[in-house]
Amino acid sequence: MKTILITGCSSGFGLETAKHFLANNWKVIATMRTPDTSQFPSSDRLTILPLDVTSEHSIEQVIEQAGPIDVLVNNAGIGMLGPVEGTPMAIARTVFETNTIGTMAMTKAVIPQFRERRAGLIINVTSSVTLKSLPLLAIYTGSKAAINAFTESLALELAQFNIRVRLVLPGRSPTTRFGENAQARMQQGFNKHYASFLQGVFDQWQQDEVVTHTDDVVQAIWQVANEQDTPMRIAAGADAKALIHAAD
Ligand SMILES: NC(=O)c1ccc[n+]([C@@H]2O[C@H](COP(=O)([O-])OP(=O)(O)OC[C@H]3O[C@@H](n4cnc5c(N)ncnc54)[C@H](OP(=O)(O)O)[C@@H]3O)[C@@H](O)[C@H]2O)c1
Repeated sequence: MKTILITGCSSGFGLETAKHFLANNWKVIATMRTPDTSQFPSSDRLTILPLDVTSEHSIEQVIEQAGPIDVLVNNAGIGMLGPVEGTPMAIARTVFETNTIGTMAMTKAVIPQFRERRAGLIINVTSSVTLKSLPLLAIYTGSKAAINAFTESLALELAQFNIRVRLVLPGRSPTTRFGENAQARMQQGFNKHYASFLQGVFDQWQQDEVVTHTDDVVQAIWQVANEQDTPMRIAAGADAKALIHAAD
């Protein structure tokens, strides 16, 4: 039986991915900043552990408590929509600490056990915004594009140890808590000179009918975890797939 550790399992893609692997007989280590068992079925294959990916101490503890794992999914992430001019640098740092450094730190923490066993898979969840640039997402896009580049370089040095590293790029998914969780940061980044431009972006989004569903992301992660020969980048969701095909 294989073991998967997933970050950011309190909601959205992480929660549904954890439930899917659990329902399909994997051992699941669902991590979240504030552990909450209420959203999961009870199972002796499920372990819920606290993890804040911005804390090295928290990462050390989770790796120790988790024991050996086969697959790491770096899913935890935060959003930020707003003009660079209005965004306090503290927010930019928080976005990079979580999405970029947090992913790198979790990745680094599992490499020793994967190298020793000559086996292991790391799946990094980035975003389709890295395939086609959108306005007001410069900081968020930067944080995720850095992980695309990090992952593709790292894969080259870890292949010798039979460790696979892959990317899943979801499109826009309005049904998770992502937008709601970004609200406070967006309000801090508000700048009146961009107000009508911001409204135009929101209006455009309301008209977009092609979006990503949580299950698209779950299935993409499932595919990477269960098939050996998947491409480096897998788009999840119809909108993301259209972008990745256009980039081919
Ligand atoms: N929804 C979209 O449109 C979309 C599109 C493309 C990519 N993505 C990416 O997909 C991933 C999942 O997003 P989602 O849509 O499922 O959003 P979500 O519902 O907001 O879930 C994000 C998860 O990350 C966790 N998290 C945030 N900061 C953390 C930290 N410092 N340490 C550990 N966990 C932390 C959150 O936990 P708390 O409950 O503790 O805050 C939550 O469990 C993110 O990496 C996001 O960038 C989302």
